[in-house]
Order: sequence, then C-alpha cells, then structure tokens
Amino acid sequence: MRSARAIIGALVLAASAATSSPLLAEGDPAQGDVLYRPCRACHMIGDGAVHRVGPHLNGIVDRVIGAVPGYEFSDALAKAGAEGRVWDEAALDRFLADPRGYFPGTRMVFRGIRTEQDRLDLIAYMLAEGGRSDGAPMDTADIAVDPEVATILAIAGDVPYGEYLSSECTACHRDSGGSDIPTIRGLAPSAFIAGMVDYRNGTREHQVMNTVARRLGDEELAALAAYFANAD
Ligand code: HEC
Ligand code: HEC
Repeated sequence: MRSARAIIGALVLAASAATSSPLLAEGDPAQGDVLYRPCRACHMIGDGAVHRVGPHLNGIVDRVIGAVPGYEFSDALAKAGAEGRVWDEAALDRFLADPRGYFPGTRMVFRGIRTEQDRLDLIAYMLAEGGRSDGAPMDTADIAVDPEVATILAIAGDVPYGEYLSSECTACHRDSGGSDIPTIRGLAPSAFIAGMVDYRNGTREHQVMNTVARRLGDEELAALAAYFANAD
C-alpha cells in the first residue's frame, strides 16, 4: 500500500507540473489566432462549435485523444484514447509538428508546423478559445449537429449510384499516401458530408472542390458518402 505521504508527494508533483507548464507560458494566443486559419477549414472551436471534417476542438487541451462523442476517429487515435492518453501540451506540440509522424494512420491531412514558437502560439490560442478539458469523457448531449449535414445523413445513400459518380473523384483522390490530396476512402459519412457541405457553401475554400461540390445535390452526396465509406 502507498503511504499517505507518498500520495501527497505525487499530488504535489502533479500540481507543480501542471502550473509550471513552460509551453503555454510562451505562447501568444493572438499570433495563434492567425496561425489557426488553415485549421479552420476542418475544425471549429469556440461557442457553438460542431464537428466538420475534423472534430470540434473545444476543450482540446487535456482532452482524451480520439474520444469526443459524435465523431468517428481513425483507429490510430481511437486506440490511443482507449489507452487513456490525453492531449497534453507536449502531445499537441508533437502532433502539430508532424501529424502523420506522431500518429501513423491518422486521417488528418496536414503537413505540420515546423516552427516551435508557432506551435506554442497555436496551442495558447486553442486554450484561450476552447478552454481546457478536465480529461473526463464528454457528454454526448453537448454535441450540436449541423442541420444541413443531418438532412443529408438521413438519406439512405445508393451505393451503386455513388460508385458510378465516384469516377470523377478518383481521378484525383487516388490514395497514394504522401500527396496533398486527402484520402477519402473509408471516411465516415458524417465527416465526408460535412466536408462536402463546407465546399458547397464556401465555408471551406478550394477552387476545384468548390466547383465539384456545387454540382452535387443532396442525393448525390449521400450516395457518394455511402460508397466511399466502404470502398477499399
Ligand atoms: C484537411 C482537414 C484538416 C486540417 C486542415 C486540420 N485538421 Fe486536425 N483533424 C482532421 C481530422 C480528419 C482529424 C481526425 C483524425 C483521425 O481520426 O485520425 C483531426 C484531428 C485533430 C486533433 C485531434 C482531436 C482529438 O479529439 O483527438 C487535433 C488536436 C487537431 N486535429 C488539430 C488541428 C490543428 C491545430 C490544425 C491546424 C494547424 C488542424 N488540426 C488542421 C482534419 C484536419
Ligand atoms: C481535380 C482534383 C479533385 C477532384 C476531381 C476531386 N477532388 Fe476532392 N479534393 C481535392 C483536393 C486537392 C482536396 C483538398 C482541398 C483542400 O485543401 O481543402 C480535396 C478534398 C476533398 C474532401 C475533404 C477531405 C478531407 O479529409 O479534408 C472530400 C470529402 C472530397 N475532396 C471529396 C471529393 C469527391 C466526392 C469528389 C468527386 C465528386 C472529389 N473530391 C473530386 C481534389 C479533387
């Protein structure tokens, strides 16, 4: 059995580790706001944030990895969360430096941020904007669903029709790793549809994808989402 003194000692250590976080002390949230711009294409943060292609990032600091309700994570992140790992400042720093290097198998398509100060500024911004999690699992009741995405998700996608439509997509989305074109095979329908809706209404800007998405109606998007979710 551990003595009371050992337990208190461990608590004191943990408390001092938490307050002396050198990373956050050095981050500038105002700079981080600017650096967050590319993240905004996939992640909402702050009041009313919902999942888009990526999960919302409220309370991301100290949040359990790959575990926020209502979002289908890659096995890589889900497994880390099941092992009890959390996004402390050090883990965020390493992930943002090289997402695929730190988490092979992650679905996040992002090159990484080389400069350490930029990463510290970003983390400081996320903390200021989204707060810190207490590390406990989040309540599913907190998840707001985007109504446009929900409407399309409710349509039963016609898989053969989706396969037919997909030939236009696979000209670019070939799935050879390492390119700047994200993998869309195996993408959860919720993330797929949120992404296409963002391109359709211009929330996410990319000339080709904006044009592609604007030509597709809800039935087509549901069919494509159903096809790509299980395509291999
Ligand atoms: C092209 C879309 C895209 C961009 C851009 C992007 N992300 Fe992500 N992000 C994702 C996806 C998708 C996931 C889920 C990854 C998985 O399940 O493997 C994710 C996951 C994450 C997670 C882990 C969340 C969790 O709950 O475990 C963090 C933290 C994160 N992103 C931060 C950022 C930051 C900060 C930026 C900008 C510097 C950024 N992302 C840019 C798509 C993106
Ligand atoms: C000419 C090449 C091209 C074609 C054709 C194309 N895409 Fe894309 N797609 C891209 C690129 C490049 C991106 C990343 C854009 C960005 O940075 O936002 C992308 C992003 C996406 C995303 C977001 C994925 C993520 O994880 O961020 C989805 C979903 C998607 N495309 C689906 C489709 C579908 C469905 C079709 C066919 C109807 C299609 N694309 C056709 C090039 C293409």
